[in-house]
Parts: sequence; structure tokens; C-alpha cells
Amino acid sequence: MIKAEKIIKSYPGPAGPKLILDAVDFSMAGGEICAVSGPSGSGKSTLLNILGLLSKPDSGSLEINSRDVSSLSHAEILKFRNERIGFVFQHHFLIPELNVWRNIAYPGALRENGFAAGLKERAMELVEFLKLEHIAESYPSTLSGGESQRIAVARSVFNAPDILIMDEPTGSLDLESKSDVMNLVLALNRVSGITVIIATHDDFIKKQCGRIFELTHAR
Ligand SMILES: Nc1ncnc2c1ncn2[C@@H]1O[C@H](COP(=O)(O)OP(=O)(O)OP(=O)(O)O)[C@@H](O)[C@H]1O
Ligand SMILES: [Mg+2]
Repeated sequence: MIKAEKIIKSYPGPAGPKLILDAVDFSMAGGEICAVSGPSGSGKSTLLNILGLLSKPDSGSLEINSRDVSSLSHAEILKFRNERIGFVFQHHFLIPELNVWRNIAYPGALRENGFAAGLKERAMELVEFLKLEHIAESYPSTLSGGESQRIAVARSVFNAPDILIMDEPTGSLDLESKSDVMNLVLALNRVSGITVIIATHDDFIKKQCGRIFELTHAR
């Protein structure tokens, strides 16, 4: 399903390139749920961004569904991401001009060139699952961190992706909201076999993952 081999990634720094991922191998079978753990700065977000096709490694290979993704064109990557990969950013990135249900339905609107009929119903199913009915028409600037985080989760699964990549999706959530998010993820995994990668420090989340992948500082 996902096979990343010898992934190397460095960022430019004042004293020359700073190595973050030093020949990381990471693979997952379809339907697995894997936590990515490790100290702050160890490269969890960097690895997730590469797996989510948001950034490219300096070297190494990445196959998704037996396809070498380095051969995809930019347009193919955008389509692949919209249809197959759900991504929850560590910093939410909601769209300030859109209300909550439109933020959630946004991946569908991209796919269908606008907020076609039917998108609101699908968004409202997710809104109800995550108990966000009272803010469905609100705008992001009026929401709490935890509310924004749950909306970002709902948006990430809107297009029924095969792969869900979540970068610390529960950092601002209380236990009940964390359970709601995990229950949504586990239900999608059970019903549609979604493959899930979650960067987290949280033991409550880690316990519900089938596997834990530990990253350490490259040097
Ligand atoms: N665009 C960038 N340019 C330069 N350095 C970067 C860039 N992005 C990340 N880094 C550095 O790379 C390292 C790894 O960052 P990353 O965000 O992947 O860590 P992380 O494991 O997700 O940490 P956290 O738990 O704090 O989210 C950090 O030292 C960070 O400062
Ligand atoms: Mg991070």
C-alpha cells in the first residue's frame, strides 16, 4: 500500500543543510493504523508531508498502491491527493471565508467545481458525528482550537480517501472529543478499510493504533 525506502530529507540551515530524515524506511499494508511518534523536531511532520505528497524527499523511493509516485506529474499529484489522500495539518488551515460545513465539504467542491447539491448533507453527517451541529454555520475565526481541529478532521475524510494522514490531530482536544475523532477514524477503517497514519504524542491515541513507528533525531 505504502512503501517508502531510504527517505532522506534535509532543510537548509545557517550552518549548512540540516539532516532531518536519514534513510528512513516506512511501509504499511492497506487497512493498517499506524502512529508516528518521536520527540519534537524529529521529523514527524516532515515524514507525513512526504507520504502525503506535499513535499518531495531529497532522495529515496515512495510507492503508493504499487505506483512510483515520483513519476506523477504535478496535475496527477493534485488529483491523487484530492481523491485518495486525506490530510489533517498540525495547524488546521481552515479557509477563513467559508463557514464550517463548507470548509468540511471543500475537497468535494474542488472535485465537483463548486458546492454541488448533496455536499451539504454529506458535510452535515460528519458534523453530527463529531457533535459540531451548533457551529455548522459559523466561521473559523469564531471557533476554538479544538473545534477547528475536529473540522479539519471532518474535511480530511470528506472525499472518502484510501489513506488518511493526520498530524497531531488531537493536541487541543479533551478526552470526549478525542474519542469522537478516534471513533470516526476507527469506523472508517472498519467499514471502508482506510489506511491511517497519525503523528501523535498521545498515549490514548497510540493505544488504539495497530503499530507505533518511532522517529529519532537524525543526528
Ligand atoms: N521548511 C523548513 N525549513 C527549515 N527547517 C525546517 C523546515 N520545516 C521543518 N524544519 C526543521 O526540521 C525539523 C523537523 O521538523 P518537523 O516539523 O518535521 O518535526 P516534528 O517531529 O513534526 O516536530 P513537532 O513534534 O514539534 O511537530 C525541525 O528541527 C524543524 O525546525
Ligand atoms: Mg510536527
